[in-house]
Amino acid sequence: MKPKIFIHNNKEALARSLADAFVQASIQAMVQRQRIHIALSGGSTPTILYEMLAKEPYLGAIDWRYFHLFWGDERCVPADHIDSNFGVADRALLKPVQVPGRNIHRISGDADPKTEAQRYAREMLAHVPLNNDGIPRFDWIFLGLGADGHTASLFPNNDTFDSFTTIARHPQSNQKRISLTLPVINAAKKVSFMVTGENKRDIVDTILRQRSGFENYPAGKVNPADGVLEWHLDTAAANILQAAV
Ligand code: 6PG
Repeated sequence: MKPKIFIHNNKEALARSLADAFVQASIQAMVQRQRIHIALSGGSTPTILYEMLAKEPYLGAIDWRYFHLFWGDERCVPADHIDSNFGVADRALLKPVQVPGRNIHRISGDADPKTEAQRYAREMLAHVPLNNDGIPRFDWIFLGLGADGHTASLFPNNDTFDSFTTIARHPQSNQKRISLTLPVINAAKKVSFMVTGENKRDIVDTILRQRSGFENYPAGKVNPADGVLEWHLDTAAANILQAAV
């Protein structure tokens, strides 16, 4: 399916658009009395969304009891480490909006990576509804994008179609990571990329205009088989695209 591309004037507008989508998801969950299984992305981009969700008008408009939160990846560091994706979300969102503890399914960055990757896969299998191929089918997966085309912690030449979780190392920092794999990402009902900043412009252009070799980048392999793919960009990240339109 072709991706839906949303170009927002700035990252505040991008965050507001996604915060509005969270409200809609909460209303739908309440009406249908159904849980929502979400995998949050790592990195710094989502922080503005978390902080917006933790303030009015969103604070009182979302019933977090319906949301079960997972992560697309985690750095192998303790939760109180500056690099922890869980730590970023916990400070900016989970604690302020009081997400129930039983709804938080974090990857323990301070556990043995191999053991934790296997445990996290079991936790997904235990909580997230499976598709016909037995793959956890998230309602909504958020992804960021690295300038090298990585997403989650799937790096070029190190992305995998095996199992549901994988252990990776950041090519520059060599930091160990635990990540969802492409089969889980591509099984989702909805995948939303959140990408801001001029430094992502070239890779965004390569992937979204399917320039030669785009499919070699892990982010270029994200294409939900039976779901919606959204790219939420600010004008800085979408600049070339806009010029092309
Ligand atoms: C991580 C991520 C990674 C991130 C991108 C973008 O744990 O680092 O999940 O895929 O989303 O590197 O990071 P920024 O949002 O900081 O640019």
